[in-house]
Amino acid sequence: MFHGRRGKSSRLRLALGSILPSAGLAAYDAAFVFFCAMNQPARGSLLDIEHLDSKEILRLLKLARGMNPRKPPPLLRHRRIALLFYEASTRTRSSFEIAAKALGAVTTLVQSSGSSIEKGESLIDTGYTLRAVGADAIVIRHPAAGAPHLMARHLDIPVINAGDGMHEHPSQALLDAFTILRHKKTLEGLQVTIIGDIYHSRVARSNCRLLSRFGAKIMLCGPPELVPQVSATLVPGLRITRHIDEALRGADVIMLLRVQQERLAGKKIHARDYIARYQMTAPRLKLAKRDAIVMHPGPIVRGLEVTSEVVDGSQSVIVDEVRNGVPTRMAILARALGKGK
Ligand code: NCD
Repeated sequence: MFHGRRGKSSRLRLALGSILPSAGLAAYDAAFVFFCAMNQPARGSLLDIEHLDSKEILRLLKLARGMNPRKPPPLLRHRRIALLFYEASTRTRSSFEIAAKALGAVTTLVQSSGSSIEKGESLIDTGYTLRAVGADAIVIRHPAAGAPHLMARHLDIPVINAGDGMHEHPSQALLDAFTILRHKKTLEGLQVTIIGDIYHSRVARSNCRLLSRFGAKIMLCGPPELVPQVSATLVPGLRITRHIDEALRGADVIMLLRVQQERLAGKKIHARDYIARYQMTAPRLKLAKRDAIVMHPGPIVRGLEVTSEVVDGSQSVIVDEVRNGVPTRMAILARALGKGK
């Protein structure tokens, strides 16, 4: 019933069993675990920005520019894409689904509530199940960092990371780069300021990795609880400031982040202090370059990290980011299934 890598690994299990009959279970399992760890993700997987070649990033951005969601090419007709979401999502999930359907694919949504995950099924077994019912690719969001990587090592179909814990959110970084390049000529030398909960943000991690790779200068801003000093080690050349005025002066791109209350785990952030020191307001925005753009991956908490005046103002590209999620994810899915030429 199972194909590809699963079959290969089962055969290897048997082979190891006959090679190592007296070595005991521990050695056998160690060898098996080693074999699994050696498995490469299927071609077309998108697991993070850190290990994605710069050429691949440029290729994906070019492909996304060529995608018209209103006149989509039927590149994925009769292909099946599973959307496996262990965490809440609005933008990411709907845009992956719309992107897949626009290209002609069939999608199936599996969420942790209402599926066998609630009954204790493991991540890998869920992957095998989706593979067995015929999924050609899996888009996965999971609260644990590395979950998509683990799944990719056990399956012979592409796995796409739609956000893994506090680790990465590669499709968001790609759509953010796509959005920036709609407004700015190049990423090289661009002053990008990221304000807010960087510590808990997979979006910030992926964006720092992508933007710095192409020469953007990044400044992180927030209180030590949300932007610890160690954040400076994320990529070379990153700077940190606790003062929003300093962060905004000369900025070309301002990225705002939600305070991730659900991940604070005992840390106390007082809304009133946060608003006083870090809320993005219209008067503060005047400190940035006149043509600066304001971004936010969403979900937005109006009145906390940003005022409605800024969200709905002329410099905001927040809705564009959501819209650009569709062509970007069309490109990611097309590449995943070998149609990204
Ligand atoms: C974010 C996420 O879930 O990583 N949103 C998104 O995907 N656009 C950010 C958040 O939850 O604050």
